[in-house]
Amino acid sequence: MLLRDVDAGDVEAYRRMRCDPVMMADLGGPMPAESVAGQLRHDLDLVARGAGLIKMIVPDPADPTAVAGTVTLHRHAIDGAPAAEIGWMVLPEHQGRGVAGRAVRMLLDEARRAGGWSPVHAFPGVDNAASNGLCRSLGFALLGKRETPFRGQVFRTRHWVLDLLA
Ligand SMILES: CC(C)(COP(=O)(O)OP(=O)(O)OC[C@H]1O[C@@H](n2cnc3c(N)ncnc32)[C@H](O)[C@@H]1OP(=O)(O)O)[C@@H](O)C(=O)NCCC(=O)NCCS
Repeated sequence: MLLRDVDAGDVEAYRRMRCDPVMMADLGGPMPAESVAGQLRHDLDLVARGAGLIKMIVPDPADPTAVAGTVTLHRHAIDGAPAAEIGWMVLPEHQGRGVAGRAVRMLLDEARRAGGWSPVHAFPGVDNAASNGLCRSLGFALLGKRETPFRGQVFRTRHWVLDLLA
């Protein structure tokens, strides 16, 4: 498995992840198909500006166009302090096999090597067992619960944080 930067050819992978009601159940519901290209442009811009690490998970390095999901880190202020927020999605046929765990570890290693991405925050929905389990096993500290605004809605989430410099 490897991670590669998102590229302009990833529209179909984005559509599969972001327009699926099950995949998006904790992320504000499915995105309208017509918004996918704009989301991809937004992510490409984040990477180009150095404000995001947006990675596609490639299970077979021989075929980098076939992706199992995505792991993302983007820089923004959290509670008024510079920070980064991490996110993850793994397509249903690849779930339950440790793909998210391996991919997130790889992304955090890259961020640690690059520097400037700590602390890393995560805001999984309170009932998202896999995502909360992932935070726990990756060594994130649980700060508590909070209301997190996202895509024009407010979600009941847990708040986890990881210090990459520790
Ligand atoms: C969350 C998601 C990325 C997990 O992907 P995955 O590749 O199946 O996850 P993994 O197999 O690496 O498992 C991650 C951890 O969660 C646990 N887990 C997985 N599925 C679980 C479930 N249904 N219930 C409880 N724990 C679960 C695993 O045991 C593992 O824990 P461990 O690290 O202690 O072994 C995937 O389910 C997904 O994309 N869901 C839809 C999008 C989403 O909710 N994104 C996150 C928004 S906060």
